[in-house]
Amino acid sequence: MCRLWGALLLLGMLLSPSATSGPVNPCCSFPCQHKGVCVRTGASGYECDCTRTGYYGTDCAVPEFWTRIHDAVRPSPAFYHFILTHFRWFWDVINNTFIRDTLMRLVLTMRANLIPSPPTYNSKYGYLSWESYANLSYFTRVLPPVPTDCPTPMGTKGPSQLPDPKLVAERLLLRRTFRPAPQGTNLMFAFFAQHFTHQIFKTSGKMGHGFTRALGHGVDLGHIYGDNLERQHQLRLFRDGMLKYQIVNGEMYPPSVVDAPVHMIYPAHVPPEARLAVGQEVFGLLPGLMMFATLWLREHNRVCALLKEEHPTWDDEQLFQTARLILIGETIKIVIEDYVQHLSGYYLQLKFDPELLFGAQFQYHNRIAVEFNQLYHWHPLMPDTFRIRGEEYSYEQFIYNTSMLTDYGVEALVEAFSNQRAGQIGGVPNIHRNLLKVAIGVIEESRLLRLQSFNEYRKRFNLKPYTSFQELTGDEETALALEELYGDIDAVEFYPGMLVEKAPPRAIFGESMVEIGAPFSLKGLLGNPICSPEYWKPSTFGGETGFQLVKTTTLRSLVCRNLKATAKEGTAEEEECPYVAFWVPDTALEAESPERKEL
Ligand SMILES: *[C@@H]1O[C@H](CO)[C@@H](O)[C@H](O)[C@H]1NC(C)=O
Ligand SMILES: *[C@@H]1O[C@H](CO)[C@@H](O)[C@H](O)[C@H]1NC(C)=O
Ligand SMILES: *[C@@H]1O[C@H](CO)[C@@H](O)[C@H](O)[C@H]1NC(C)=O
Repeated sequence: MCRLWGALLLLGMLLSPSATSGPVNPCCSFPCQHKGVCVRTGASGYECDCTRTGYYGTDCAVPEFWTRIHDAVRPSPAFYHFILTHFRWFWDVINNTFIRDTLMRLVLTMRANLIPSPPTYNSKYGYLSWESYANLSYFTRVLPPVPTDCPTPMGTKGPSQLPDPKLVAERLLLRRTFRPAPQGTNLMFAFFAQHFTHQIFKTSGKMGHGFTRALGHGVDLGHIYGDNLERQHQLRLFRDGMLKYQIVNGEMYPPSVVDAPVHMIYPAHVPPEARLAVGQEVFGLLPGLMMFATLWLREHNRVCALLKEEHPTWDDEQLFQTARLILIGETIKIVIEDYVQHLSGYYLQLKFDPELLFGAQFQYHNRIAVEFNQLYHWHPLMPDTFRIRGEEYSYEQFIYNTSMLTDYGVEALVEAFSNQRAGQIGGVPNIHRNLLKVAIGVIEESRLLRLQSFNEYRKRFNLKPYTSFQELTGDEETALALEELYGDIDAVEFYPGMLVEKAPPRAIFGESMVEIGAPFSLKGLLGNPICSPEYWKPSTFGGETGFQLVKTTTLRSLVCRNLKATAKEGTAEEEECPYVAFWVPDTALEAESPERKEL
């Protein structure tokens, strides 16, 4: 009997962590500063590799001479953000000079340089490896995962068990009352964001978290053409480069799965004739996504007709492939000059011009990171209800509503979404209850993937780590809630940190979302092969006509020339086009907040 107890006791000791673990892994406390690489040595030692960090010493904490000078004169991100978002008169002058190009080049290179290229780690490999480089099924990541043998999920800081994700979401992220985004950001913006990002964020259901099915790792328009060749072929007409379509009420729409048999996600009760078939399988979810899918489908077929006119000898394949490159260019143009321009609030007029980088050191290569995917969950954008032509629709009526797009037509939806405000993303709890499960999923995923803390990411992107909850949130109540949940500011998780961070006046989210998100975004856009010296020339786009389309397309021109598109005739008249933008009309804004003034 006694011996049995003894044996059980011994077994218990062997199984409990304190008995099995030797000395704590020293890399758990992330000792290496300034992007130094932590390597374990011997039984309990570590070394920091400080090569080309500009620092030296045991923990890469001592600046080299030039680093010291550079750090002393470098303004903080908050400072240049302030300059770029104020003094309109000054920027009105700059916009029209060569300084615009110089600044744009600076923005691009400074941001893109923060992203490792070629890519480094992934969710399995916290050290450089060939597998991590070569296996495209992984999302990459900028910081390695927290080692598995650390005392706490965040390394050494914070509780040994993180708070329930549901509790975190309900206390920190759940919307009480709808808070509109400043600067009038609208649903047109929200749906564009969702539509555009779903070509690059496709977490693999089969392979699991940390894996992607979007193997193009960038703007490849897989959400229009499908993420694999078989799907693309099902969606193609194989005539004149065109994609399959159907005509409803005299207008062009995506085909149904009856004509283009691809997998689409719809509730079971939706009959095949009502299931629209497009590149991305989830786009049946929202009429706003299907609206953008329809606009791009019309644009693709319109561009094919233009190309065929100029190149009557080209076969279907060449027309299709060239149209795709043109649409990739148009997309990047809209994203930089309309979408990022609006999001940034900058008075510097942004410019999509790949030639700006031709003299700089820049790798035309991109790999989508798990951190980019995490931070891009902008569900606070979504409103409480959807207003179209005087009708108000609930989520229940809007979601998977397969008739709404064709009932109203593209024009009415464009008008409705351009006139309805979207929600503020960061700095206020603003996620609709129906979408809270998405945020919970993001937090759960980040734990499975052992993402490092919010403050570690701040450091990685040259930002000062926050030293108190109050400093992070700028308000007492949220700071207290955060402290109760995490205990230690260095244990705050990546995504919740992003969303609770205080937002500067007139900004849609906090500093970290900009400083960490923008590098991923700009690297992804300019790292596209069409931006390289080898590709960036008229012949790539079928000649000067196609090249001009890439250089001049705007959100407005894309929409306006495709509103009335039918199979045969091409474009709508500019004058007939309704209000189209990523923000609600100024008049609507002024009515809401008369105190809004320009500096
Ligand atoms: C990538 O890695 C996963 C996980 O190890 C593996 O299942 C998959 O086959 C790899 N892909 C390739 C192309 O080797
Ligand atoms: C300069 O660019 C900003 C941002 O696009 C814009 O608001 C402003 O009107 C521009 N000024 C001129 C003179 O082009
Ligand atoms: C779908 O939208 C239409 C308006 O286009 C509306 O009449 C209908 O009730 C909606 N369907 C559902 C199931 O709510």
